[in-house]
Amino acid sequence: MNKSMIAPSLLASDFAILQQEIEMVNQSDADWFHLDVMDGVFVPNISFGMPVIAAIAKHAKKPLDTHLMIVDPDRYIKTFADLGVNHLTVHYEACPHLHRTLQAIKAEGMKAGVAINPHTSVNLLEDTIQDIDIVLVMSVNPGFGGQSFIENTYQKVADLKALINRKKAKTLIEIDGGVNAENAKTLVDHGADVLVAGSFVFKSEDPRATIKELKEKIA
Ligand code: DX5
Ligand code: ZN
Repeated sequence: MNKSMIAPSLLASDFAILQQEIEMVNQSDADWFHLDVMDGVFVPNISFGMPVIAAIAKHAKKPLDTHLMIVDPDRYIKTFADLGVNHLTVHYEACPHLHRTLQAIKAEGMKAGVAINPHTSVNLLEDTIQDIDIVLVMSVNPGFGGQSFIENTYQKVADLKALINRKKAKTLIEIDGGVNAENAKTLVDHGADVLVAGSFVFKSEDPRATIKELKEKIA
């Protein structure tokens, strides 16, 4: 089995010292940067957008895993590619023509991700799973960091893993929301490949040591 990965979410970082936070992740055992873009329409919160991602891209030395919580993401696919984003994840619930959106993301040279809200069944990905590089399973309702993990996620991950295996797809399973040292190993045991962690990392005493601790849990 491939090694499981950790993607710290910069949403929980201190934006006043963003460059230091990025350097911390660069030097840590983390695998990706997770960037949460919120538009105040798809989710009831606004985070950051293109100018901030451009600044992050200047310093980040690991893949930029960008999670779009926005309506009509197709409008900005090229813009994010030009900013240097490596993985672009759109929400299933925001894409009436998901297959077309996935092709457009890949045509720009990025890995294509699909995020599913807690109420969205993994079965709805049956016909697209072979076209999806990453499924981002939301283990909280998107919009805010620091929420509690929804326990039903374990079953969802197991069901998604079964779907991926049955379809012989190469899709990675990424989990987002309320990840901590208690649930990390169980998530990986159910089939998760990548764990996003925001508050648990950045609100801890020693974020770099916390990333190491998470990596050791899932090794
Ligand atoms: C929530 C975002 C998450 C968030 C996770 O809408 O998609 O990536 O930053 O934060 P924690 O780990 O604090 O739940
Ligand atoms: Zn996210």
